[in-house]
Amino acid sequence: MDLSLSLRKLILSNPVGVASGTFGYAKEYENLVDFSRIGAVYTKAITPEPRIGNPSPRLVETPAGMLNSIGLANVGVQAFLTDKLPFLRKIPSSVIVNVAGAVDSDYEQVVEILDSVDGVDGFEINVSCPNVKHGGLALGTDPKLVAAITRSLRARTSKPLILKLSPNVTDIGSMAEAAEAEGADAVSCINTLIGMVIDLKTKKPVLPFGTGGLSGPAILPVAVAAVYKVSRRVKIPVIGIGGITRWQDAVQHLLAGASAVQVGCGTFANPKLAQEVYDGLLAWAWEEGIQSIADFHALDS
Ligand SMILES: Cc1cc2nc3c(=O)[nH]c(=O)nc-3n(C[C@H](O)[C@H](O)[C@H](O)COP(=O)(O)O)c2cc1C
Repeated sequence: MDLSLSLRKLILSNPVGVASGTFGYAKEYENLVDFSRIGAVYTKAITPEPRIGNPSPRLVETPAGMLNSIGLANVGVQAFLTDKLPFLRKIPSSVIVNVAGAVDSDYEQVVEILDSVDGVDGFEINVSCPNVKHGGLALGTDPKLVAAITRSLRARTSKPLILKLSPNVTDIGSMAEAAEAEGADAVSCINTLIGMVIDLKTKKPVLPFGTGGLSGPAILPVAVAAVYKVSRRVKIPVIGIGGITRWQDAVQHLLAGASAVQVGCGTFANPKLAQEVYDGLLAWAWEEGIQSIADFHALDS
């Protein structure tokens, strides 16, 4: 059985990764997981300068999920290089750097700096963060802007370029088409959905900006539908994200059309979730006589 996915020179032999923002810079999980069973680590978003992010509270639980409003808090690209990358270079998982910014030049700067750096296997471009005032989601809701940022970044790197799409749009397929037309190697979907929780005591939203990003089991069907839609609009691979808390959920993503998956906030409840999802997926594929990712996609035809 070969469930690998090739993105340029990168071969993801294990299709199960851990999603950006839910796994820090991997060292946080050093003694908790078996990295040889995690296909790829998608880092916390990196911006040119360090960001302290939004005021707290930044998280609130919801029925079957959670809202976050982290605001892209991160160490910045220089500290990433000196403090975080040395550990990431040691693990067997592939390392995809999630890139964010307020303006196009922020994304360009991070990609330019990391393009020649050993240990960075690819980029995931976050044009879908709902928790910042500038950049993020504003970019990811207009196919022309998605096309422009993809074109600009494609010219700056020969490493795999993955555009991470937002579900907070009318037509997610058109965003994927724009990314594909400008040379993206893959799209990943979905980022979080916009949500709000109101505190009955204060009669105000719990999160300081009012809204936050909804993730967790509640969004699984939304994510599976997005993967289904997107994978029928583009030829490049789709990486499924959203609501995976069991291996069966990952199988749904793959059957919908994904070629790989990412486990997100499910890791908070079970740090070993990604590797367990991989084990479950392998066992199921074995029982079903599945030999490749393409076989998953053939099952619905
Ligand atoms: C606390 C938290 C922080 C996140 N930070 C980022 C981020 O920096 N960049 C990004 O592209 N997505 C970020 N995400 C979105 C996740 O990568 C993922 O797309 C989303 O949580 C849906 O997957 P899930 O339902 O499995 O959690 C974050 C999610 C959470 C819960």
